[in-house]
Amino acid sequence: MGGVLVAFEGIDGSGLSTHARLLAERLSLEGWKVVLSKEPTSGPVGSLIRELLRGEEVDQDIMALLFAADRLWHLRRGVGGISLEEALRREYVVILDRYKHSSLAYQSLAAREEWVELVNSLAPDPHVVIYIDVPVNVALERVRRRRERFFYEEEGRLARVKENFERVLKRAEGKGVLVIRVLGVDARGERSVKEVHEEIYAKLTDALRSLPR
Ligand code: ADP
Ligand code: TYD
Repeated sequence: MGGVLVAFEGIDGSGLSTHARLLAERLSLEGWKVVLSKEPTSGPVGSLIRELLRGEEVDQDIMALLFAADRLWHLRRGVGGISLEEALRREYVVILDRYKHSSLAYQSLAAREEWVELVNSLAPDPHVVIYIDVPVNVALERVRRRRERFFYEEEGRLARVKENFERVLKRAEGKGVLVIRVLGVDARGERSVKEVHEEIYAKLTDALRSLPR
């Protein structure tokens, strides 16, 4: 039996960092062995990626290579802790704030999807993806309230990234990845962080009990 790789995915501002952290804290309190980490990482390639995302000239073929290199660094070398591969060998639940499906959804804005698949082919699929579905206008409103803007945080681009997520996650399901979809808003508008967290927690703990490993 190995560990479990759980990746949070969604557009910018959908609440990935908030919910990855809440889930990791709760599972740890319950006695699970948990590693929480994020991509882009704070390692050497991740730092370069952030610098490039502050600009307007972003070549997605090159970004696909950089995100894939950052991911392989994360898997093999680790960033500020044990590597992801080591954590999985030691049977941790590894919770990631973004992973390879972000590359498939974002870099295929301009790169060919086969290229993005190819450069990511050494990164294993996650066991579980938790996809937080938030409309583009809500996500952008949240993003505007915080730090500087990154390249992708623009209405037209994020709308296309959202369509890409829907397509790539359907394909992932076909390959055996368990995709948990959670709505980040409801018909009345914003859902509270607590309500969304409870849904994620319930669905993920069900999955952890039943996943063949
Ligand atoms: P991301 O990592 O996806 O960019 P963050 O978790 O950093 O998103 O930020 C999401 C922001 O939206 C936070 O300021 C949070 O307080 C706010 N927010 C409002 N409602 C929710 C919700 N239901 N779930 C998560 N975040 C929410
Ligand atoms: P983000 O999670 O917003 O980083 P931070 O919380 O440090 O601000 O990620 C930065 C951007 O990178 C975000 O717009 C999504 C994008 N991204 C990709 O385009 N491809 C990828 O493979 C990953 C992991 C992220």
